[in-house]
Amino acid sequence: MVEKVKHTKEKKIRVGVIGVGRGQSFAQAANAVVGMELVALCDRWEERLREVGQRYGVATYTNYEKFLEHDMDAVILANYFHQHAPFAVKALEAGKHVMSETASNTTLTEGVALCRAVEKTGMTYMLAENYPFTVFSQEMRRLYHSGEIGEVTYAEGEYNHPMSPRDRLRISPGMKHWRAWLPSTYYCTHALAPLMYITDAMPVKVNALSIACREVDELTVRVADPGSVILCRMDNEAVFRIFGLLLPGHSNWYRVHGSRGAMEIIRGPGYFGPGKIRVWHEGWDLKPGEEAERVYTPDWPEHGDLARQAGHGGGDFWTNFHFANAIRSGEPPYFDVYRGVAMSSVGILAWKSALEDGHPFDMPNFKDENSRKQYENDHWSPWPEHAEPGQPPPSILGFLKPNPKGIELARQVWQEIGYHEEQ
Ligand SMILES: NC(=O)c1ccc[n+]([C@@H]2O[C@H](COP(=O)([O-])OP(=O)(O)OC[C@H]3O[C@@H](n4cnc5c(N)ncnc54)[C@H](O)[C@@H]3O)[C@@H](O)[C@H]2O)c1
Repeated sequence: MVEKVKHTKEKKIRVGVIGVGRGQSFAQAANAVVGMELVALCDRWEERLREVGQRYGVATYTNYEKFLEHDMDAVILANYFHQHAPFAVKALEAGKHVMSETASNTTLTEGVALCRAVEKTGMTYMLAENYPFTVFSQEMRRLYHSGEIGEVTYAEGEYNHPMSPRDRLRISPGMKHWRAWLPSTYYCTHALAPLMYITDAMPVKVNALSIACREVDELTVRVADPGSVILCRMDNEAVFRIFGLLLPGHSNWYRVHGSRGAMEIIRGPGYFGPGKIRVWHEGWDLKPGEEAERVYTPDWPEHGDLARQAGHGGGDFWTNFHFANAIRSGEPPYFDVYRGVAMSSVGILAWKSALEDGHPFDMPNFKDENSRKQYENDHWSPWPEHAEPGQPPPSILGFLKPNPKGIELARQVWQEIGYHEEQ
């Protein structure tokens, strides 16, 4: 089941990265180990771009269109969270393969356009979801496909990542930065993608409730809610519960119940807890040789030495690895455009639901032109640059103003990091 790196005798894949914040992880991982070579960087923040460009010794661009003219095979999108789809479409149309950071699309119309662009151009597209590729998610996928816990009935994924106000402001420069406006359901892929990867299930219906606690954001400029719970009905009738995002009480955790047992990663201190897996069955349902309960530390299926050095529990190695293999083989990666767009659309539909106190919404079938055509003009969006009458707020409390204490701290922090726009 595990793929090998398919690059041994072949030409390196020349990669450009847009966004030199998170983009630096990709720049670092675009190396000979996965048969890639970093050739260009793009960012509007000139000072940071110059510094990072010099470190890697590659061409730098402040203009995306000019960057796309650079002689390269693939583009990695690590620009703003809510602006990936139009950048992806431009790159695909310029004949580049695309790997995009969270999320693939920020409106349903963008999701439809992205699927059509991938189909029209035939280029490789991958959503760079790294959380499915931790050692325990990969082990849970292996275990699930061995049939030991049967077919998934219910699963839970939690990506709840509180940070200090200073740290949050440092990575969110600007009153209109996407991290300040991000609705509580939109960053759902880190919680959902591992469950989809483990079970191969796809979401077909979504509902959600948002948790609005202003106290959590007293010292930031955030105008959206800090938490949400999403329920997804999956294509095999299973129910998945997704929890996030910034509520005190860090939790990055996954559990899968099946028709013959259950498995989870063990909860505990640390980013991913102790990294152990628990598998359990009912005593009356044990097969010969099966244990009622076991807890163990999983190992990597392969390339453990490389994965252990990478960020986000090894996930940052695997995303470049799978992207390179997909380009070389011509086979779509696991997190292809349809899974990327479906996961990102869970966040959008969940926000529609949260604003209607949990009303359920159907997921379009993005592979089916008849189904997706109904959404090709659905520009519903809570982002400030899409503001117009009829557009939704980023909080269930409506359009909020940041706390003056948060604004004061923000000005200080942004000055410290050399951010001078919009202050
Ligand atoms: N998968 C993960 O573990 C993980 C971790 C961190 C961030 N991310 C994702 O990475 C992306 C970037 O996040 P970030 O943390 O780097 O913060 P960020 O969004 O503030 O950084 C984006 C960078 O892109 C640049 N940029 C934006 N628009 C541009 C344009 N039109 N032309 C050129 N440059 C432009 C900005 O100047 C900035 O340096 C987001 O989608 C975020 O969700 C993922």
